[in-house]
Amino acid sequence: MDAESSRQIRPIMLGTWPTPVEPAPRLAERLGLHAGSLWIKRDDLTGLGGGGNKVRKLEHLCALAIEDGATALVTSGRTQSNHARLTAAAARRLGLRCLLVLAGDAPATATGNVALEALFDTPVRWVGDLDDDGLDAAVELAAADLAAEGERVSVIPLGGSNALGARGYVACGRELETQVPGLRHAVVALGTGGTMAGLVAALGPERVLGVDVGATADAGTRVERMVTELTGARARPPARPSALRLRRDQVGPGYGILTPGARRALSEAALSEGIVLDPVYTAKALSGLAAEVRDGRIGADEPTVFVHTGGLPGLFGHEFIADPRAEPAVPEA
Ligand SMILES: Cc1ncc(COP(=O)(O)O)c(C=O)c1O
Repeated sequence: MDAESSRQIRPIMLGTWPTPVEPAPRLAERLGLHAGSLWIKRDDLTGLGGGGNKVRKLEHLCALAIEDGATALVTSGRTQSNHARLTAAAARRLGLRCLLVLAGDAPATATGNVALEALFDTPVRWVGDLDDDGLDAAVELAAADLAAEGERVSVIPLGGSNALGARGYVACGRELETQVPGLRHAVVALGTGGTMAGLVAALGPERVLGVDVGATADAGTRVERMVTELTGARARPPARPSALRLRRDQVGPGYGILTPGARRALSEAALSEGIVLDPVYTAKALSGLAAEVRDGRIGADEPTVFVHTGGLPGLFGHEFIADPRAEPAVPEA
């Protein structure tokens, strides 16, 4: 267990809790579930900075930063990182400096999350097309530069995903236990893994389905490592990747690229429940849920929660939004 995850750190309040759970009977029927069997956990409504799942993690990660006397936060991500946007918002809320290290080149027009980072007046260091290791090295350099200016820097991990950040999703799992008695399946997008890891630590591996969106090459291993840190000897059964429920068939051509299934899911949620998903994470997760029902792994009457992890700003940073009607619409119910 790493030193940070074993420390007793009280989270600082950045969001609005508990997030609501809403029944989704029309969406349930479109997916082949009984009308009363599907709920949406509204973790898109977490409050701070446009909302989304990263707020829960940042409550723990920023608490550690403050306890360590940090005056500045540094984190990294891809161009339309929701995590980077929410770290910038958390820094504003806490009166800290923030520097974002983003892969890619500065876009000609600031859209989506990049536009909100400009609203927070948070500097972005664009570092070109780097892999995760290259990004880590660029983060170290950025932290050293701020330290040379006299700041005490706390580096927030990619996606907010380590065992400490994942504690935010242990809390979400506990909320779900009380909000949806008899909960059988919780379905969530899997990126850097902290969200799924926290849910697995709270609910057990058999009740959590992670739908990989292709953000990292080793998502299952990352989840396994965090669950082991979170649960230690308590794991039931031990969190082996083989014990985790993962779907890897929704990535399509790659991270951030809209697949036909995700395109359909965006319409399904919008037309049936007036719910807006994002093309990078939640639409692929809902498409994974639909596939799981089609495959018979989720039964029509089994209480199921779709965890909506946010990402709305990313929708306005994606080419899809320029013409959302362009592809075949889903038939009206
Ligand atoms: C909107 C949204 N949903 C889901 C995820 C995946 O969460 P995690 O990185 O904890 O797997 C992310 C991560 O960036 C996200 O921004």
